[in-house]
Amino acid sequence: MSIVLSGIRPTGNLHLGNYFGALRNFKKMQYENECYFFIADYHSLTTHPTPADLHGNVRQVLVEYLAAGIDPEAATLYIQSDLPETAELYLLLNMNAYKGELERVSTFKDKARKQPDNINAGLLTYPSLMAADILIHRSHKVPVGKDQEQHLEMTRTFARRFNRLYDVDFFPEPVAYNFGEELVKIPGLDGSGKMGKSEGEGNAVFLAEDPKSIRKKVMRAVTDSGPTEMNQKKPEPIENIFALMKAVSNPDTVAFFDEQYNKCTIRYGDMKKQLAEDIINFTEPFREKVKEISADEDYIRKVTKMGAEKAHASASKTIKEAREIIGFRPF
Ligand code: TRP
Repeated sequence: MSIVLSGIRPTGNLHLGNYFGALRNFKKMQYENECYFFIADYHSLTTHPTPADLHGNVRQVLVEYLAAGIDPEAATLYIQSDLPETAELYLLLNMNAYKGELERVSTFKDKARKQPDNINAGLLTYPSLMAADILIHRSHKVPVGKDQEQHLEMTRTFARRFNRLYDVDFFPEPVAYNFGEELVKIPGLDGSGKMGKSEGEGNAVFLAEDPKSIRKKVMRAVTDSGPTEMNQKKPEPIENIFALMKAVSNPDTVAFFDEQYNKCTIRYGDMKKQLAEDIINFTEPFREKVKEISADEDYIRKVTKMGAEKAHASASKTIKEAREIIGFRPF
């Protein structure tokens, strides 16, 4: 049984891309592995040092995770800042994290460019905090996208370095986990690239978005002037609409519009209307769950307490051993 860990920053709501990219797979995974899912609220301070509503944002992500099917009994679902062991391991890892290698990380360079007046130490050491998140449970697998691969590489470097410096075989070197066949890439609505909240308004459809807004976004999705030859290859924006439809609609619906496309009789307006309704249907149970869970203060309290306790049980073992390995021992 592998130890799997995944973290998400509390910035923004979950969208269809999150669901098909990872969440849907977590639902199964949590019963087959030892899974840790956490909300990276410490990390969010590296870019937003004075967040307007940190607590509310964390709460929303938590509720959405639960609504999407994370089972807090099976998995360990917790908030990063509820686990101070993470901060201690971060401190220990930082002692063997070098300025040069940290400065070479591309996310650091990007962010330093974007926030030149706030190139803080947390930003520079983002990779050692992320390594602490992962290594605190001695995780084996970390489901991450391409943008996080370099961070994971750093985690392996820190793990290897710790093992070598202290002459132990303590931290495993975690690998990126992608779901293979199960992975469905969801494109955005803007005609290119994947769905993501940073790609601009209108590109992502959120799981908790209200139907009216979903209709509006989908109707605005980028298309073209239509096929001119029978059976012609679909350009990217059209391929994207079909990909979305494949994810949420039934196969007959997809086949119907596919045929219309091939016969050059397709009306994108009709297709998008259908797609919007199918997205609305698909996300309806999610919206209901969000409402239900969000109203249940006791449940949220219970879940976060249980998550913190389970995470603590695992983390305290790691930190105790790491301290002993380095030489911090009780008198
Ligand atoms: N850096 C990740 C992101 O921006 C979030 C994150 C923090 C994370 N710690 C992690 C992801 C540990 C996986 C494992 O998406």
